[in-house]
Amino acid sequence: MSKIVIDTNKKLNKISRNIFGHFSEHLGRCIYGGFYVGETSDIPNINGMRTDVVEALKAIKIPVLRWPGGCFADEYHWRDGIGKKTLRKKMVNTHWGGVVEDNSFGTHEFFELCRQLNCDAYVNGNVGSGTVQEMSEWVEYMTFGGISPMSALREANGGKEPWKVAFFGVGNENWACGGNMRPSYYADEYRRYQTYVRNYDSNHKIFKIACGSNGPDFEWTDVVMEIAGEYMDGISLHHYTIPYANWDNKGYATEFDENVYYATIAECRRMEALIKGHLLLMDKHDKEKRVKLIVDEWGTWFNVEPGTNPGFLYQQNTMRDAMVASLTLDIFNKFSSRIEMANIAQTVNVLQAVILTENDKMIKTPTYHVFDLYKEHMDAKLLDSAVVGGKVSATTSEKDGGIYITVTNYDYSNSESIEISLLGLAPQMVSAKILASGTANAHNTFDEPENVVPADFNVNVTADMISMKLPAHSVIGIKIK
Ligand code: AHR
Repeated sequence: MSKIVIDTNKKLNKISRNIFGHFSEHLGRCIYGGFYVGETSDIPNINGMRTDVVEALKAIKIPVLRWPGGCFADEYHWRDGIGKKTLRKKMVNTHWGGVVEDNSFGTHEFFELCRQLNCDAYVNGNVGSGTVQEMSEWVEYMTFGGISPMSALREANGGKEPWKVAFFGVGNENWACGGNMRPSYYADEYRRYQTYVRNYDSNHKIFKIACGSNGPDFEWTDVVMEIAGEYMDGISLHHYTIPYANWDNKGYATEFDENVYYATIAECRRMEALIKGHLLLMDKHDKEKRVKLIVDEWGTWFNVEPGTNPGFLYQQNTMRDAMVASLTLDIFNKFSSRIEMANIAQTVNVLQAVILTENDKMIKTPTYHVFDLYKEHMDAKLLDSAVVGGKVSATTSEKDGGIYITVTNYDYSNSESIEISLLGLAPQMVSAKILASGTANAHNTFDEPENVVPADFNVNVTADMISMKLPAHSVIGIKIK
């Protein structure tokens, strides 16, 4: 038996909607084939963007999209991706499969995608192989509304109005694929590059993000915060869930036993200690706690599906991934007073994708359905609560007078009885939806797209208590009025 106590009168901070954000790189079939099929494709599209994918993401209210990488960002030269498509430069995508990148999806296409998704843009700039001038001119191209060489170029390419860049990343993983820099060198480069990330629009100040650490590399955060903390709004953190953290053999997405399942859960739960550690170091240099933590890459990373390009990072997605998603989002919610944004890697066809496509077919993964259950927490107030007992995790929030609770039972094989005590509220109307399946490796396929989907669920309601029995490896969303 697990017990959850919630004080419905004790509202804490707002949970930023951007915690439920996404990341999409020029990697494998994420952009090409995933989001973008081109205007002349037989697959239904609007201005080249797949209608099925856009509609599915709008349904989970995707708040923000990070682009163009990842490692690709520090090799990306934005001028190659503007102007007439037939004249755009072709390049080799050295990081991801050595395939030809024809640059048909560039800056204008990215903002068209954000427009269709109704989400904010998080653009990641190139520090590793780009120049200060290149980055500075990209920001001018995207955001300047007056008369200038870059705004004139944008207009000549059909972009009359400037766009809003909500977040701008100054480099990515500059400790490795972004230039193999040491922290003090990067920190000085950050100071220089960010100087020219100008705020041309006083109504939309760009939130500047410094490249942060690789998992537990606390020295990186310490040094970068000390040297450059005052020049940033956020610093990033990357942590991938790999069973036993074994990069040489990550195991397959759909093939695992109980031990590997729990090894995966343990790796995902390491996120909490990582966040705590990095926040301590950030606070050492930023007593006001002004700088936010941005977890702009997280998710499971398994071996690629047999027979697929190893550079494309295409993997299936099961209820184990759903558990990783809900447990990780609970951790982000818990620290939401300091986390402004998180971006799952990656939205379509790559790593812990929420959507998989195959030609004209599209399926929603169990991870998609977790984001669907969690969307009610966006911009809601976190409520003070305590969880005691088994393998259970929860988030409770309040919005517009309604209470929303998500509870996960991550036990591999046992169901769990849950009692939720609500202090200060006698529930009137209660409804619930559950994501559950008979086996932990249950997943959706192109032949069986509805194998794992949320279903209505009955919970017991008394004057001040809600109780239920949650099946093994399941997650529930409960709405209370
Ligand atoms: O998400 C895949 C890759 O993982 C990204 O390109 C990189 O930033 C990270 O190492």
